[in-house]
Amino acid sequence: MSEMKTGAIGIFDSGIGGLSVAQAIRQLMPAEHLIYVADTAYAPYGDKTDEVIYQRMNLITHHLMQVGVKAVVVACNTATTAAISRLRLTYPLPIIGVEPGVKPAVTASKTRVIGVLATPRTLATPAFASLAQRYADSATILLQPCPAFVPLIESLQFDTPQMRQAIHSAIQPLLTQGADTLVLGCTHYNFIADLVADIAGPDVTVIRTENAVAQQLRRRLAECQLSSGEKAAATEQFCSSGDLNLFSQQLRRLWQREGPTSTNPGVFALAGLCVAQKAQADI
Ligand code: DGL
Repeated sequence: MSEMKTGAIGIFDSGIGGLSVAQAIRQLMPAEHLIYVADTAYAPYGDKTDEVIYQRMNLITHHLMQVGVKAVVVACNTATTAAISRLRLTYPLPIIGVEPGVKPAVTASKTRVIGVLATPRTLATPAFASLAQRYADSATILLQPCPAFVPLIESLQFDTPQMRQAIHSAIQPLLTQGADTLVLGCTHYNFIADLVADIAGPDVTVIRTENAVAQQLRRRLAECQLSSGEKAAATEQFCSSGDLNLFSQQLRRLWQREGPTSTNPGVFALAGLCVAQKAQADI
């Protein structure tokens, strides 16, 4: 069991969006080792089928199990809503997901009209439909797929005229219909949260979920007696199935650590494994 306690937490997403969740986890749990996987060769997940997304989740989780993680965080709303229940049936370790924060949005809204910004896939899943259904009596829930956001964010365009235009076109119809609360239902969008808030104006609340995910992970680790008791600095590893030069650039821009807790992050390729799988999936 003590060996399990010192195991790392595996975190993955289609790309860099889950780094916002990893950041929240690092802040809340400075003693935990982290291994982050960006499945950049397959980003975005938002235009893939549930089956393709599940295959990627399965492959990545299998890899994380092989390197000895004690828990997995699916730091992606699309993957969580598409297939987390299937993943949990396959792997016997704590698997934490992230879903759009509809509940906190309904609580925060005064107009009782909320807008959910997410990938087309997330909004089309039965898991999201059932989440929205739970609150359908309490609020009007407007859905806004934002397929333009992830490619812009992956290319580190956080505050460009194109990004501003994409946000404006996405949220204007929601505000016109009376939404006073916007849910960021994709982990990538955390990196443009301030811009969304700025464009939406001071009367609009923007809901994000990465801190709730970190807290849920901490609870699960404690329940399973898996919390790290280590005093030494925790480590961080970053893997990508895509271009490592781009990934290193993305990390330099986005991975800020609070305090001197971590060793230098290592960056690794998952390319061999993933290219083979990509070829299979493309057939
Ligand atoms: N960051 C992801 C999410 O939370 C996935 C975005 C995508 O790859 O389309 O949904």
